[in-house]
Amino acid sequence: MSHPYVLLSAAVSLDGYLDDTGPDRLLLSGPEDFDRVDEVRASVDAILVGAGTIRADNPRLLVNAPERRAARVAGGRPAYPLKVTVSGSGDLDPAAHFWHTGGAKVLYTTDAGAERARAHGIAADVVPLGTGLDWRRLLTHLYDAYDVRRLMVEGGGLVHTQLLTQGLADELQLVLAPLFVGDPDAARLFGPGAYQGGRLRLLETRPVGDVVLVRYEPTAPGTGPLPVAADHHWLALACELAERCPPSETAFSVGAVVVAADGTELARGHSREGGDPAVHAEEAALAKVDPADPRLPAATVYSSLEPCARRASRPAPCTRLILDAGVRRVVTAWREPETFVAGADGSGALAAEGAVVVLLPEHEEAAAAPNRHLTGR
Ligand SMILES: NC(=O)c1ccc[n+]([C@@H]2O[C@H](COP(=O)([O-])OP(=O)(O)OC[C@H]3O[C@@H](n4cnc5c(N)ncnc54)[C@H](OP(=O)(O)O)[C@@H]3O)[C@@H](O)[C@H]2O)c1
Repeated sequence: MSHPYVLLSAAVSLDGYLDDTGPDRLLLSGPEDFDRVDEVRASVDAILVGAGTIRADNPRLLVNAPERRAARVAGGRPAYPLKVTVSGSGDLDPAAHFWHTGGAKVLYTTDAGAERARAHGIAADVVPLGTGLDWRRLLTHLYDAYDVRRLMVEGGGLVHTQLLTQGLADELQLVLAPLFVGDPDAARLFGPGAYQGGRLRLLETRPVGDVVLVRYEPTAPGTGPLPVAADHHWLALACELAERCPPSETAFSVGAVVVAADGTELARGHSREGGDPAVHAEEAALAKVDPADPRLPAATVYSSLEPCARRASRPAPCTRLILDAGVRRVVTAWREPETFVAGADGSGALAAEGAVVVLLPEHEEAAAAPNRHLTGR
């Protein structure tokens, strides 16, 4: 169930519009920013737009700089990223530039849409996904069938809104353009939807000509067994914290983060933190949260190694501490090997008391890295 890294890219007016309602595409970026977009395109494996954007803008979605295409080829990649579009209806213009420029193309659609697209003679791989279009299936298919590891999504609003509200966007790259549209019928960047409650994390701001690029990362954990993009980011942080542990020959190096449902970090910790040779990462992190904090029951604990179910050094293992804190969702990268405890099954102990445990093996290597001297791997 691996997905590509998904970055949403858009330019917006000061009043939040993607376009006006005129017949031509509204140019929001300036030349410097079009060049920046070209550079980002050159860095990804695939570019996706919705069928609405093909209809409205008739875009080519190319890497324009020859030296960037040459660098891709020199690196063993096709000159152009794969072009991807989504359409429920399959009602697409076979003469649109999208199909006749650049490299390989793929259309994700419904079963009925696939029939219509084939009847139109659409020049692309046509992948039907059943009666509806499921974004997780689409992303998994892109990863598995087309080796897409980085996906740039260039709109429009409907596509951006779905990917963000479904927790599938890793990063937003927004360019704020110094002009107004002021027309309520124009396309907005984000429509109504169930967005995360709290604040996103600012990654970067950069003036590019007369526009400003802002890069944000969603922060809200998932709510059940299905991982969202922010789960990967927090677990990656837990793995980084594991690198900070004082070395030990008798205990694992582990990092942990406790995150509220709205994406607020409540606490972080790592093994043997603060000169305590026995403290575990989850224990160190939870000790920093007020046990009466009302955010704990909906919080997620991220731990690079699954929480311990048995330990000799302290009366309560971390699974007990987590359950007693009221936390009911744990995301981890690595099942505990039998190095110190036979049959350690912290995930089983948590699940037995109703907690959801999400294992993200994509991070196992990072979680295991500071423990190589213990496991030999
Ligand atoms: N400023 C910028 O950076 C920028 C970038 C891109 C686009 N834009 C603007 O954005 C506007 C277009 O945005 P938009 O929101 O109207 O369209 P869109 O997001 O580009 O595409 C929407 C279409 O994609 C298909 N689709 C999306 N999600 C689907 C799902 N879950 N199931 C089935 N089909 C799905 C549907 O196609 P079917 O109708 O075929 O079923 C839907 O009508 C244009 O005005 C364009 O200029 C601006």
